[in-house]
Amino acid sequence: MRLGVDYYPEHWHEDRWKIDAKLMRDAGFSVVRLAEFAWSRLEPSEEVYDFSWLDRAIDTLDDAGIKTVLGTPTAAPPAWMIERYPDILPVDVQGVQQGFGARLHRCFSNPHYREYARAVTVAMVDHYKGWPQVIGWQTDNELGEGPARCVCDTCAERFRQWLKRKYGTLDTLNAQWGAYFWSQEYRAWHQIPAPRQTPYGQVYHNPSLLLDYWRFVSDLIVEFHREQARIVKAIAPHQFVTHNMMGLHCHSYDHFAFGAEVDFVSWDNYPPPTGSVAMAHDLMRGIKGANFWVMEEKSGPTGALKMSPTPRPGQIRMWTWQAVARGADAVVYFRWRSCRGGAEQFWHGILNHDAVPRRRYREIKEVGAEFEQLSPAVAGTTVENDVAIVYSYDQVWAHNIQPQTDGLTYWLHGEKFHSAFSRAGVGVDIIGLSADFSKYKLVIFPSLFLLDEKIANRIVGYIKNGGWALLTARTGVKNWNNLAWDKPLPGLLAECAGIEIDEYDAISNRGQNGVRTADGKEYSVTIWCDIIDLKGAEPLARYTGDFYKDRPAITVNQCGSGRAYYLGTVPEDAWYRDMVQIYVKELSLADYPGLPEGVEASWRVAPDKKLLFLVNITGEERCAPLHGKFRNLLGEPGASEKPVTGQVTMPSYGVRVLLKA
Ligand code: GAL
Ligand code: ZN
Repeated sequence: MRLGVDYYPEHWHEDRWKIDAKLMRDAGFSVVRLAEFAWSRLEPSEEVYDFSWLDRAIDTLDDAGIKTVLGTPTAAPPAWMIERYPDILPVDVQGVQQGFGARLHRCFSNPHYREYARAVTVAMVDHYKGWPQVIGWQTDNELGEGPARCVCDTCAERFRQWLKRKYGTLDTLNAQWGAYFWSQEYRAWHQIPAPRQTPYGQVYHNPSLLLDYWRFVSDLIVEFHREQARIVKAIAPHQFVTHNMMGLHCHSYDHFAFGAEVDFVSWDNYPPPTGSVAMAHDLMRGIKGANFWVMEEKSGPTGALKMSPTPRPGQIRMWTWQAVARGADAVVYFRWRSCRGGAEQFWHGILNHDAVPRRRYREIKEVGAEFEQLSPAVAGTTVENDVAIVYSYDQVWAHNIQPQTDGLTYWLHGEKFHSAFSRAGVGVDIIGLSADFSKYKLVIFPSLFLLDEKIANRIVGYIKNGGWALLTARTGVKNWNNLAWDKPLPGLLAECAGIEIDEYDAISNRGQNGVRTADGKEYSVTIWCDIIDLKGAEPLARYTGDFYKDRPAITVNQCGSGRAYYLGTVPEDAWYRDMVQIYVKELSLADYPGLPEGVEASWRVAPDKKLLFLVNITGEERCAPLHGKFRNLLGEPGASEKPVTGQVTMPSYGVRVLLKA
C-alpha cells in the first residue's frame, strides 16, 4: 500500500521543495503525482521542452524516499498554442467557441491539438523512461470532466466518419434512427449535424442521433487516452499507465471500454461532508474487477469560489480507510498545499497557504504510520462478492436523453439496492454489461432501456444456468440504436421473466400508490407503475390503489434453473431492505446481522486470510457486534495483537481492521 500526495513544485520556490519532501516523508508518504497541468512550464514555447525543473523536483522527492507518478499535461493547453491554432478551442451547443482561461479548452478532434498532445507525451516519456524514480503515468486529468461534448465542425466531420463505419449506408442509418419523423432523412453524409441547439434546445434532437453522438464522444475520449497510453507502453513498458476517473460523477465516456486501456483504475474522491462514497468505490473497483488507486483524496475544505465545511477530526482518516476497505491499494491526497494563485485558491490541501503543519497534517501523519503498520497484512488482498449490480453507460445516456418521468433516473434502483445490501452488510460488486455474470448468485439489472439479442441471450443464459436476476421497469424498451422495439415489454426478456406489461403509468415522484405482498405486507410506491399480465410468473406484490388495484406490480419467474424477478415500480426503502433479507436467506449470502446504521462492513480476502473493515462514517459513536473471533489490527491504539469478540465500540469516524481468526 502507498500513501501520497498531489504536488505542484512549479507553484513554489525551489528552496521550499526540500522542506516539503521532508514533511511528506515524515507523514509516511511514498508517492507523489506531479506535472499534470504544467504544460506551459514543460513546453514554454512550441517544441522547446524544459524538463530540468521537473528533474530536480523528482530527485528532491526521491532523496526523501518518494516515488513519482507523472501526469501528462494535456488538460491545460498553453496560451501560445491557442494563439497559433485558435480552432483548438471547443464549440458549445449554441455554436459559441469557448475562450482560453480555465482548463479543458481543447477539442479532442482537433488535429493540431492532437499532434501537440502526442509530441509532449513522447518527449516526456522518452525523457523519463530510464528514471526508476518514475513508477508510472497518469494520462491527462479527469477526462470527460466539464463541457466535454464539443460540437465544432471537425467533430461533426469525425462523427460522420464514425457513423459511416457503424451503419455503412444512409438507408440503414435513416431506418435505425427513425429519421422519417419530422423529415430528418439524410440524402448525403455531410447533411448530418453534430447536435447543436435546435428550436427546441438540444434535447429535442433525434434520440438515436444524440445517443450515437454521446457514443462517438466516448470513443473519442478513450482514443485520446489510448494514444498516450500506447506511447508509454511502447517507450517505457516497465512504467504503469492509469487515469484519474471520477467515480459516479462522470458519464462522458464508457468507463468499461476505457478500463481495458489502463493497468489499473484510479479515481478522484471528494466526499460530501456527510454520507458515503462506498458505492463510487465499488464502481471504480468494478471497472476492471480489480484493486485501484485513489489519485486525489480530499484533504481539506474544498471550493473554488465558495468553500465546503472543513473535514471533521478523523474524517480524512475514515475516507482513507474506507477506500482501502473497498479495494484501494494507494491513497494520494489532493493537494499538498493550497495554491496562492488561480481559480482553485480555496481548494485546500493538507497545508493551508501558510504551509504550517496543522491538524489536517497531524491526522494524515497518523494515517501514514497506520499504513506502514498494516501494509503487510493488507497486501495481496482483494474484494470478492456474491452479488452484483450492473452499471451501463449506454443506458445512462439513453435515460439522460429521455428521462421518462420525474424522479426516474437510470441508477435509481442501483442505488436503492446498493444501500439496502450495505445496510445488511452484504458486499456488492458494480459491474459492466459485458462482465461474467456466472460468478454471482444474484445480479441486479437496473432498467435495461436498451436491449439487443446478444445481451438478452447472455442474461437468459445466466438465469437458465441457475443465476438469479432482478429486472426493473423500463427494460427492453429500445434496441441498441435507441429505436423503440415493436414487442410487448419487457421485450427480449419478456419470455424469461414470464410476464407482459399490459399498461404503464408514469406517476412521477409527485404520485403515489401502494403494493401488498402475498403475506400481507404493504409498501408505498411512487414514480412508475408497470401493470403486469402474468405469463407464467408468480406475483410477489399487487397494487393497492387506482384503476389497476390488485394487478401485479412485482413478480418472479422460474426460468431454467434460475429465477427472473421483475420490479415494475419504485417502492419505499423498507421494501428493498425486506427483499434483501429474502435474498440473504434463500441464497445464503454472507451478511452482517446487527450492523448499526452508519457503520459499513466490508471484507478484503486472500486465500489464507480474511480482513474485516468496519468504518463508522458518522460523527457519532457506534457499537458494532462481532460475529466470530478476530485479531485487532487497527482501531484500538496499543492493542494490536489483542483478540476481540463480542462487540466493538467505535468513536465518531472510527475505523477497525480485524483479522478473522
Ligand atoms: C479535481 C481535479 C483537480 C482539482 C480538484 C479540485 O477534479 O482533478 O485538478 O481541480 O478537482 O477542484
Ligand atoms: Zn470539436
